[in-house]
Amino acid sequence: MLLAEIADVGTDRFRGGYARHGFDRADLQLRAWFTEQAERRGLAVYTDRNGNLWAWWGEPGPGAVATGSHLDSVPGGGAFDGPLGVVSALAAVDVLRARDFVPARPIAVVVFAEEEGGRFGVPCLGSRLATGAIGPDTARGLRDPDGVSLAEAARAAGLNPAHLGRDDAALSGLRCFVELHVEQGRQLDLLPERTPVAVATSILAHGRWRLTFRGQGNHAGTTAVADRRDPMIPASSTVLAARRALAGTDARATVGRLVPTPGGTNVIPSSVDVWLDARAPSTPDTRKLVDEIVAAAREASAAEGCAVEVREESYGDAVTFDAALRDELAGLLGGVPALPTGAGHDAGILAARVPTAMLFVRNPTGVSHAPEEHAEPDDCAAGVAALASVLEHLAS
Ligand code: GLV
Ligand code: MN
Ligand code: MN
Repeated sequence: MLLAEIADVGTDRFRGGYARHGFDRADLQLRAWFTEQAERRGLAVYTDRNGNLWAWWGEPGPGAVATGSHLDSVPGGGAFDGPLGVVSALAAVDVLRARDFVPARPIAVVVFAEEEGGRFGVPCLGSRLATGAIGPDTARGLRDPDGVSLAEAARAAGLNPAHLGRDDAALSGLRCFVELHVEQGRQLDLLPERTPVAVATSILAHGRWRLTFRGQGNHAGTTAVADRRDPMIPASSTVLAARRALAGTDARATVGRLVPTPGGTNVIPSSVDVWLDARAPSTPDTRKLVDEIVAAAREASAAEGCAVEVREESYGDAVTFDAALRDELAGLLGGVPALPTGAGHDAGILAARVPTAMLFVRNPTGVSHAPEEHAEPDDCAAGVAALASVLEHLAS
């Protein structure tokens, strides 16, 4: 299994799991590894203007069938989210080659850049840039936690940041894009059919908001309660408000990142940044959810004598995958189930421009974005076989 070859790349010694973020050392090592693997298979690899890698079987041209995923991870991420789709694509090429299949249409294996937004904050950055869902100026100005801009990181990785932006040339030739991905829930495992593979129906609307609470930095021991303007108080209220807002809904709201400044045990912070990830079945539902949480943040802020500033860092509407392609692939694979997901994917971004589908591989615990993320080897092999059949069908 090709995943074993990259198991040691970007392991996070402190938090566990992987730290592989757009254009960092681990990511560059993975990109070099992918290029080498693709070239070993006789695929011609090129890097597009946004840092996405394309490995071509056949001359790039109209009617191409693309597959792939991403190699970056969330902080402390698992081994399967992203890399499974990439290595399965390479393995599917091997399967088809072994069958002496000669594609009538070109096939591309794609690695999208910075899918998780783990470094620059915007998920699916490579596919958003390619489709125009984020403008190049906005993207160039994104900064990582150390203050390095995307423009600087891209330049250091050998890209020309002036070329970032919408890439009609890359997308207009695609007949379709199919992303294989580990399932990030337990729906498949809980189905009585016991099938290892499913197709995707839809993705929740989702976005990220940064709430900056400002108060007065001060001494933890000498500042009386009445004199405190502690931004950690409204920040914590907001975390709890996010959980309360979910009652009776099928929405999701999460605070996975909270950074106090300056960050000292004996220091009342002067400011606290809170990143809210919110998801719901539709844009109105998502907006309502976020409005409710932000109203609670403002109220708690005022009560503590603090100020709060809210910025939307990314947003994507709900996605319904191409129904005809979905049904065609489900039928081809023997009537596998069709499942919705709450996770974002490059396939969801591409769906605005190209007929797009996804294959999910069973995850026995449903855990994802954590080191315990898992798929059994037999299920991964079933995923490769399914993807090979899909590529054979679509590229014939
Ligand atoms: C990515 O996996 C996301 O859903 O945020
Ligand atoms: Mn992910
Ligand atoms: Mn992913």
